[in-house]
Amino acid sequence: MKFSKIQPSYTSKDGCRLVWKGIDEDDQHVVILNKAELEQLVEIMKENSSGKIDLEDQVSTIFINSDVTQFNLKNNRYLEAKTTELQKQVLEYAKIPHQPQYVFISTKEFYPSITIRKDDAPQETSDKKSKQQSLLQAILSSGPQKTKKEPSESDLFRIFSTRRSTRRFDKTKVEDWMVDKILAAADTAPTAGNFQGFKVFYIKNKKTKEALVEAANNQPYVNAPVVLVFCMDPLRVKMDFSPEILDKFSLQDATLAAAYSQLAASGIGLSSIWIGMIDEEKVKSILGTDLRPSSILCIGYPEKRKPPKSRRKLKELIQVVE
Ligand SMILES: Cc1cc2nc3c(=O)[nH]c(=O)nc-3n(C[C@H](O)[C@H](O)[C@H](O)COP(=O)(O)O)c2cc1C
Repeated sequence: MKFSKIQPSYTSKDGCRLVWKGIDEDDQHVVILNKAELEQLVEIMKENSSGKIDLEDQVSTIFINSDVTQFNLKNNRYLEAKTTELQKQVLEYAKIPHQPQYVFISTKEFYPSITIRKDDAPQETSDKKSKQQSLLQAILSSGPQKTKKEPSESDLFRIFSTRRSTRRFDKTKVEDWMVDKILAAADTAPTAGNFQGFKVFYIKNKKTKEALVEAANNQPYVNAPVVLVFCMDPLRVKMDFSPEILDKFSLQDATLAAAYSQLAASGIGLSSIWIGMIDEEKVKSILGTDLRPSSILCIGYPEKRKPPKSRRKLKELIQVVE
């Protein structure tokens, strides 16, 4: 596989993406460098020297040798590039500041289903020839509409595609308006019969947080700046179904609400970790409630912003039933 290009990375602002040919938008063939890693690479390339760069995932390493640059990546992935080719492109790239480009979420052809929109791609012009085309031909041959619109900070797809869990939180206080938004988001989630069969415990008390760490298999990050415990409340679900179904509904209600909160947190620049490994009885007794907890959402500013984790190919995820 041949190294192809270097371009701005959306997920690591001020960093870059190194892309290998035949990429097919599959991030198996992309290496994302953060700002510091890119700077190290530029330095080594400027000096024409060899060197080693450890990437922030603490597993991947780049070895720069005079002939070949090797990328030993996590999950036993390996990529290489001719050092002269890489050097040429990296040094060119470093000359000018780069803006991260638009993220385009496509349907299921791509993996991950995010690609950098080639916004400077030539657009169809309405020359004589195209005017002569039939309307149908014009529709069939038209490309995506060029848009000048920046994806907004709150663009839902941007939030989906950039969210990444964190287990190391910064000490910065999360402001009250942020917590309000996160809780309001939970309240917008759909619920079975709109009975809202869940309840959220917003834990401010330090001792209670510490007790929850223990109830969550001693996962220390449960002691986060913002801790929300999502509980099932099946008695709220006034539907004429068996208790098992009502339990199931309330579990789904609580889960969905937590997911909405998690996305809301990402949307306002926070990060979170979802905790499912909990001792339900201990959590109930700590909170003094009979309601079964379904998850704990721990939220705060991440110590380090990381790119999202990769997923399996969409075609493996989806089975089309025709
Ligand atoms: C149902 C569920 C239970 C989880 N339980 C835990 C947990 O107890 N502890 C933890 O550290 N992470 C937990 N996670 C977080 C996942 O490990 C994490 O979401 C996953 O590795 C994907 O990473 P991402 O969120 O950055 O995409 C849980 C996530 C889910 C959805």
